[in-house]
Amino acid sequence: MKEWDSFPSISKGKGIWLIDSKGNKIMDAVGSMWCNVWGHSNPQLVKAITNQSKKIQHSSLFNLTNEPVEKLANNLIKISPGMYKVFFSDNGSSAMEIAIKMALQYWKNIGESKKTQIATVENGYHGDTFGAMSVGYVPEFFEKFKKQLFSTIQFPVPNKYRVPKGFNFLDYQNNCLDKIEKRFSKQDDIAAFIMESGAQMAGGVIIYPKGFQKKIKDLCKKYGILFVLDEIATGFGRLGSMIQYQEQKSIPDIVAYGKMLTGGYLTMAATLANKKIYDSFSGEFNDWKHLFHGHTYTGNPLAAAVANENFNMYQKNNLIKKIQNTSKVFTDYYQRLLEIDIVGDIRHKGMLMGIELVSDKNKKTPIHTKKSINKVFFEEGKKHGIYFRTLGNIVMLVPPLAITEKELNLLLDRTIKTIEAVKTQII
Ligand SMILES: Cc1ncc(COP(=O)(O)O)c(C=O)c1O
Repeated sequence: MKEWDSFPSISKGKGIWLIDSKGNKIMDAVGSMWCNVWGHSNPQLVKAITNQSKKIQHSSLFNLTNEPVEKLANNLIKISPGMYKVFFSDNGSSAMEIAIKMALQYWKNIGESKKTQIATVENGYHGDTFGAMSVGYVPEFFEKFKKQLFSTIQFPVPNKYRVPKGFNFLDYQNNCLDKIEKRFSKQDDIAAFIMESGAQMAGGVIIYPKGFQKKIKDLCKKYGILFVLDEIATGFGRLGSMIQYQEQKSIPDIVAYGKMLTGGYLTMAATLANKKIYDSFSGEFNDWKHLFHGHTYTGNPLAAAVANENFNMYQKNNLIKKIQNTSKVFTDYYQRLLEIDIVGDIRHKGMLMGIELVSDKNKKTPIHTKKSINKVFFEEGKKHGIYFRTLGNIVMLVPPLAITEKELNLLLDRTIKTIEAVKTQII
């Protein structure tokens, strides 16, 4: 932490630009931690918050409900095939805690006591609370808490850039799936399989090969295991489709949304469940089947109001189509990026790109220095007017979803300049 003696203080935002207290403008290449949709200070979203703030700012969902949150629940159910009810929370980690509790308690509620294990994938990430750290165990982040985390059964995810010796990519995918099936068939103790939908983000921008997620879903169905998806970072257009599990043809039992739900303006997340899960929780009071979970700001009307306006804007502006078109700009830069001698791999889908930096292209050796690559990149990026947040040796481009082609060209040009400029500092 000592490498950071101070941080720029952001005092304003306009569109894709963040403006600090000294008046410096930097482009938000991180989409304010992957959640910004329309850019900053969008008048329609600001108006939705202002209008709602004049009516009721916060009222609990304990024993009560409110109009914006009811509307939002309907909006979410309408776009989420297979889902039946929504449980609101105020951040992605909590939405995943809720998903884990729902999945484990479902089996208890229906009188099945042996299904207590959670299966998941290596390098998945689901947030920083203890349940989320357990199911999304990234060793570099969470090793210090290993003893306190509950154990999970982890399976590898095929990464096209790092196929083990002796395999081609297809064999490797099948090998990963075989491992899953072998374990599923061995013992009937797995309550749920939990994974990010479409791609792993914090685990290094690993985009699943076509059909991989569906095959896991099919195995879950075959062996009576709940399938739980995390669309917090990858849904709502980030990978180029509104609902990523629809594109992946893998309807889950439980799904979590967050980040872009409010356009990136207020904090809210949601865990949706199908009817089978929901019904298992609805016994008589003394059956004690309800879900003991709730947060102070669950269902906050301001967040719900801005989320509803965000929804309207997705539809009115045909945002998903727009993302699909704008996203093509990334492909124009593949060649130029790959020509840089420290760029080993680029992984792109929708409005997401991960650029893997290596010290040896042939050996694919990840760049590893005593310095913080994130800090070096951040400082250099600032000089080029870009706000970067790298994850180790992966440069992440996660801009506001509604970024224009012109702006994206600017971002990619400046990214190339930044990578060229940091080269000598990190190898
Ligand atoms: C896939 C995924 N799930 C869950 C989370 C946790 O969300 P939050 O930071 O809102 O707690 C994140 C955050 O980056 C994420 O990428």
